[in-house]
Amino acid sequence: HVTQTSHLRCNRYRTCVLSCVPGRGNMFPPDFAWGAATAAHQIEGGWQADGKGPSIWDTFCHQEKGRVFGEQNGDVSCNSYELWEKDLECIQQLGLTHYRLSLSWARLLPDGTTRHVNQKGVQYYNKVIDDLLSCNVSPMITLYHFDLPQALQDQGGWKSQEIVPLFDSYARFCFQTFGDRVKLWITINEPYVCAKLGHEDGIHAPGLKEAGISAYLVGHNMLRAHATAWHSYDSFYRPKQKGAVSLAINSDWFEPLDPGCKEDIAATERDLAFTLGWFAWPVFVTGDYPETMRSAIDSQSEKLGYGGSSRLPSFSKDDPTVLGTADFFALNYYTSRKVKPGGDSGQMLGIKSDRNAEEVLDPSWPISGVSWLAVVPSGLRKLLKYIKDTLNNPAVYITENGFSQVGPLQMEDVERCEFYKDTIFEVGKAIEEDGVDVRGYFAWSLLDNFEWADGFSVRFGLFHVDFSDAKRSRTIYRSGQEYAKTIVKYKRAI
Ligand code: NOJ
Repeated sequence: HVTQTSHLRCNRYRTCVLSCVPGRGNMFPPDFAWGAATAAHQIEGGWQADGKGPSIWDTFCHQEKGRVFGEQNGDVSCNSYELWEKDLECIQQLGLTHYRLSLSWARLLPDGTTRHVNQKGVQYYNKVIDDLLSCNVSPMITLYHFDLPQALQDQGGWKSQEIVPLFDSYARFCFQTFGDRVKLWITINEPYVCAKLGHEDGIHAPGLKEAGISAYLVGHNMLRAHATAWHSYDSFYRPKQKGAVSLAINSDWFEPLDPGCKEDIAATERDLAFTLGWFAWPVFVTGDYPETMRSAIDSQSEKLGYGGSSRLPSFSKDDPTVLGTADFFALNYYTSRKVKPGGDSGQMLGIKSDRNAEEVLDPSWPISGVSWLAVVPSGLRKLLKYIKDTLNNPAVYITENGFSQVGPLQMEDVERCEFYKDTIFEVGKAIEEDGVDVRGYFAWSLLDNFEWADGFSVRFGLFHVDFSDAKRSRTIYRSGQEYAKTIVKYKRAI
């Protein structure tokens, strides 16, 4: 049966009809990427080792008390800078086909510019990449995962347009240095989170609490930087290296609180526009922000007395073309929300947020560890379908999805096992029933690690890391064992 239908897989994602039967274990195409993900600042440690420069997350943690749970920081974390081989063992134990990691910009270029290259940093990542390939694991590399070199923050960071050529030089340096072996690239991880949590809510580095304009400006410069780097790859590196480049967009799935209420439906549309749409529309649909987003911001501007000029920047003819600058859609999905109008902007107390959407949880959804993470695997399938229908049916990699543990350690993490089983099943259904072109799934995360402002209090790993032990020993959770079995099952079924 499998042999007879395998030719269908040539155009596999749309024609996976006969051979994909739910429950039979063969819902996934043969070259589906089974991965796990991490990020440099969250696992590496070695914050000053061998010439690494400081990043904004080093500064954010060290500078002021009360920003990070328990005054913790990423100085040592999982110490993957010294213990990379241990990570590789974990990767092999899971049987991953792909591993997503990020490069620390400040480890490679301590002052952020190519004027000074830290060869020790280059050696470290060369070894990681070579080791992965020698174990038949393909790297997916993120260039920027929240950790801007402090030296560039001192010059204005993402709020300054100067960052665009600097990011492009860094990206070209990475394509040039590692692109002979790396075929999947993410330029920027979760621009929404960098912009909003870092420059408006102030709960991520660089810790700015500036409501109204900064987040939009940061988002705009991130889109410019991404697009510029994509064009560099396309013109100078793709012809030889033949890889693919995108940016990782995070979005929840949103549904109207009352599906029959038109105000709730409109608020849901605004929420989708202000998260997924903010970055996906310019890149995949129109080259510009969603109209829903712009008009919501403009109407709020009038009320705030910002005058006629929109706080949401516009792309000009001097900007790189943003439309079409992604070779696939990279989605970080964690949770879902019900939506109704309302909500204030956090920093501007008493004033409605631009999006005018209040998000609530459905009481039937279980919560995983942290309060923001309601467990809604079916939301991923709905979001994938939405992406297919509204973004011109792109190839999709789910670059992050996971379940957190808080409080007493549970090595027998049955809830997380259920979560992964249900979520992967929903992805399978999105492929076979909805025809979404999903190419891979990356669990967040390979290891328990430094969960930003939550420090080490929130554990997302498939492996537990003992942070009280100098060796940082890694031990597989039950969910890691089950994920490994799932991968074997689906690979065998092909
Ligand atoms: C998305 C981020 O990319 C990652 O760094 C973070 O740890 C996870 N979400 C979980 O919050």
